[in-house]
Amino acid sequence: MVGFRLDGLTKSFGGARAVDGLRLEVADGAFLALLGPSGCGKTTVLRLLAGLERPDAGTITIGDRMVAGPGTFVEPEERGLGMVFQSYALWPHMSVAGNVSFALHGKGLSAAEIAARTDEALALVGLQTRAAARPHQLSGGQRQRVALARSLALRPKLLLLDEPLANLDPALRTGLATEFRRLHAETRTTFVFVTHDQAEALALATTIAVLEGGRLQQCAAPEELWRRPASPAVARFVGDGRLLPVDVLGRAGTGVEVALGPVRLSVPGDAPAGPGWLCVRRQGLALSEAGSPEDALPGTVRTSRFEGGAYCHDVAIGGDGVPVEVHGPVSLAPGTPVGLRVADGWVIARQP
Ligand SMILES: Nc1ncnc2c1ncn2[C@@H]1O[C@H](COP(=O)(O)OP(=O)(O)O)[C@@H](O)[C@H]1O
Ligand SMILES: [Mg+2]
Repeated sequence: MVGFRLDGLTKSFGGARAVDGLRLEVADGAFLALLGPSGCGKTTVLRLLAGLERPDAGTITIGDRMVAGPGTFVEPEERGLGMVFQSYALWPHMSVAGNVSFALHGKGLSAAEIAARTDEALALVGLQTRAAARPHQLSGGQRQRVALARSLALRPKLLLLDEPLANLDPALRTGLATEFRRLHAETRTTFVFVTHDQAEALALATTIAVLEGGRLQQCAAPEELWRRPASPAVARFVGDGRLLPVDVLGRAGTGVEVALGPVRLSVPGDAPAGPGWLCVRRQGLALSEAGSPEDALPGTVRTSRFEGGAYCHDVAIGGDGVPVEVHGPVSLAPGTPVGLRVADGWVIARQP
């Protein structure tokens, strides 16, 4: 079943397109990360899904119901969604339980049902012993858990999360991120998790949609996105990929043969003969042992830093001096010539 579907979704603010013809279909029960740099339209997509904004064009379908489209607009409270923001927006004068149960009143539920759902939601986020506490008595991470419990108590079909970890310190972020994964598995709700942090998206999501300038760049499973980025923007944004300009000579087995200056390489890729980008990351590069054999890229060390266990060298490749990173066992002085072997990479077409 479909969790939700966006088709041609478009929204402008004062002539500038925040969301531009977005087409996206997400399976029921998915954990979708909406990933992209600040200002790329992530929050606007969530607000459109929630019914807090009206689209200029396109349709939104949640489950089997169109909630926004030409002549159709379903009000936010009718959409069966939960929303968690960066700021927790809790009522300071209410207890934890009061905050969680607040939205359940007026839904025709019995007092016993409200109490049971509140207990269940607090248990899900591990706060059952803090039901009587006030928000100011809790840590930032605990407050965000209350906000989560408040949404989960509504048993939403879709849970929208707008950078919910952004205000927390790194240790709390990691802990709460693990909680999100567990909650997703336990509730089987479709999660839409907005983040500008690619590591967070890779660690959490079952599917990642990368946005840039309000447009969808690629929607794929984390490993696919990492291994086979569809565009230069995705290659750069996910896993800090570096792009080397190459000439694609033709197919070679399951990949392509490319020329980078005098060096010829066979690498995974999907590009026709012509100009291409070779996307490399430090995990796919290695220093060649002796000097510069024929299949190694010649480069020059710019800096070396110790990263615990190994050194990370910043190396300028080729005439253009594209900077890449590679690990090595010993420190190397700036200016040292090195050869790099490409153990893994991905080639895409380059628009001339
Ligand atoms: N209510 C608004 N009025 C005017 N411009 C807006 C409004 N909301 C968002 N924008 C603009 O739309 C673009 C996308 O914003 P947003 O969806 O908040 O991006 P993100 O969440 O990815 O940082 C930005 O250029 C932003 O300035
Ligand atoms: Mg935002």
